[in-house]
Formats: sequence, structure tokens, C-alpha cells
Amino acid sequence: MTRTSSLFHVAAKRRAVLDSFARSNLGRGGFVFCHMAVKLNHTLVDSRDRDASALFLSELLGIDPPLVLGPFALVKVGDELTLDFRHVEREIKPQHYAFLVSEREFDEIFARIEKRQLDFWADPHKSRPHEINHWDDGRGVYFEDPNGHLLEVITRSYGSAGVQTKNPHPLVAEKLERKDQAADGSTKAAPH
Ligand SMILES: [Fe+2]
Repeated sequence: MTRTSSLFHVAAKRRAVLDSFARSNLGRGGFVFCHMAVKLNHTLVDSRDRDASALFLSELLGIDPPLVLGPFALVKVGDELTLDFRHVEREIKPQHYAFLVSEREFDEIFARIEKRQLDFWADPHKSRPHEINHWDDGRGVYFEDPNGHLLEVITRSYGSAGVQTKNPHPLVAEKLERKDQAADGSTKAAPH
């Protein structure tokens, strides 16, 4: 067998193996060739005054006005995701909604919070009023909508800066500390 035919033989054999794998169950439905693009499309938001609540959010975030669709007022908060406000008479159980924004958008949103003289906090427990946080070396703030839903605006995703940063997210730091706790109670250096 010449060198050229030998290389051709190896390439053909490799292609046959890949074809066989692609036809297999693992290749069709397994984790190697399967790329699922599931996106949250919409979720309902209970409110006492549907239109006022939807307008409050769109105005605070500085995004498009709500779109009324049947009993819902849709606020588009992503490429496709909508928060669908609906009116309910029963007691509203407060939920939490967090929005990732740019630094410039944060400035604009925070200016609206101050202009409306809304209460705001640096933490979800509302123990740090009139403050913002700097978790993950970004900025974050909590405030409430007219229904008591806890809204949050952040410029960095939770934990995105890791633990070796000036202001790690407290939840990330807490979780890693527990993992690093040795059986004898001593602590190890956090992994890089
Ligand atoms: Fe949050």
C-alpha cells in the first residue's frame, strides 16, 4: 500500500466511524450532537392593576410600552421573553424578578428610581436601605413594584466575577466556603 492510499484508507475509516456514531442513538439524541435551544418565552405576573403595573416596569426600565393581548399586558424584557401582567383579585404573593442591564442603563434606571422617590435597597432582605451593592464588581439595586414584587437591576450576572475578586457575590462566597471546609474543620484556599 502506497503512502497516499494508506492516508486515504485512514481518512475513509475515520469518516465511517463518525457516520456510524452520528446514526447511533447517542449521536442523534445524546449530549454530543444534541444542542437544545430552550428559551423562557413568557411568564405571568399577578397584579392588582394590570396596566399600571406593566407601565411601571416598562417606564422604570426604559423599554417599549406594554402590548395588550387579551387579558394580559405584555412587557418585553428580552429578545423574545415577555412578562405578562394580569389582574387578580386574590392576595398577591410577591415574586422576584431580576434584570441584567448595561452600566449606562443602570445609571438611567437608578435616576428614575430616585426621581420617583422609590424605596431601594442593596440586598434582597431590605436590610441596607438607600444603598446599592457592588457584587461581582458591578452594581445592583432592589426596589418594589406597585404589587410588592421585588425587582432587581444588576450589571453583572450572579457569580460572574468568581471569588477572587474585590466584591464576590455573597451567595457564591458562602457556597464555596462550605465546600472548602475540611472534615477536621480547617479551611483550604479557594480554588482558582
Ligand atoms: Fe436576585
